Amino acid sequence: MDIVVFGANGQTGRLLTRRALDKRHTVAAVTRHPDRFPFSDPLLRVVRADVREPSSLVEVVRGADTVVSTLGVPFSSRPIDTYSVGVANIVDAMQTTGVRRLVVVSSTGAYHYPNRREAPLALRMFEPVITRTIGKTTYDDQRRMEDIVRSSGLDWTVVRPSGLFDLPESTNYVAGEVDPVGGFTARIDLADYMIALAGDPFPAGKTVVVSTTENTPTMWQMIRREAFKSAS
Ligand SMILES: NC(=O)c1ccc[n+]([C@@H]2O[C@H](COP(=O)([O-])OP(=O)(O)OC[C@H]3O[C@@H](n4cnc5c(N)ncnc54)[C@H](OP(=O)(O)O)[C@@H]3O)[C@@H](O)[C@H]2O)c1
Repeated sequence: MDIVVFGANGQTGRLLTRRALDKRHTVAAVTRHPDRFPFSDPLLRVVRADVREPSSLVEVVRGADTVVSTLGVPFSSRPIDTYSVGVANIVDAMQTTGVRRLVVVSSTGAYHYPNRREAPLALRMFEPVITRTIGKTTYDDQRRMEDIVRSSGLDWTVVRPSGLFDLPESTNYVAGEVDPVGGFTARIDLADYMIALAGDPFPAGKTVVVSTTENTPTMWQMIRREAFKSAS
């Protein structure tokens, strides 16, 4: 399969790109900084493009079997539109070139899950605060992005992970059209799931979650490591 990965030089994107190459897929890894991409492979092409510049995207996606996006920007108190503008430009490029399969990462944080299974007390306390404060502009834009994907007419899947953290190996994660379990997703599990979805047309038109249930951090570790380090 020929896969185009937007956000390929990010933390999840690198894992996903490596995973795809290990499965012998051909990958176009999209980044604004190709010189900073950490590995090479005969099946890998590192491509410079900015999703905010639509003219650069048509040739990037032309001929691909699947487009995957792990695009993201840090939490910010300033307005955020990279998710919605970027994905709208990706969708336009796919429609122009006839590429149909799109797998996009979003976030469970952008939505209310009243029946969420096994939500720790700390998550129930902090998620509403983050949603209304440092995460607000991100989640607003992720909802706009999801609306664009859903009305694209493409064979889309929206993947919602919860708080991202790192593990060395993928786990027996919970994924699919279910409520999230707990508050965490290992980036390697997210990468593994998105690559599986990329090659599977069955989940088209579906919104799915992915939850890691083993070796998860505490909510306090997570907030220290991930949320506050990127707030600005
Ligand atoms: N952190 C969490 O707890 C959490 C929870 C749920 C969901 N998520 C979502 O999961 C996704 C992956 O997270 P992550 O931590 O792996 O992401 P990350 O390390 O921040 O990587 C995101 C990548 O997006 C790329 N990007 C940003 N703006 C771009 C632009 N204008 N054009 C092209 N590329 C652009 C950047 O690539 P270059 O700089 O190389 O161009 C960056 O490497 C994000 O969408 C995030 O919102 C995160």
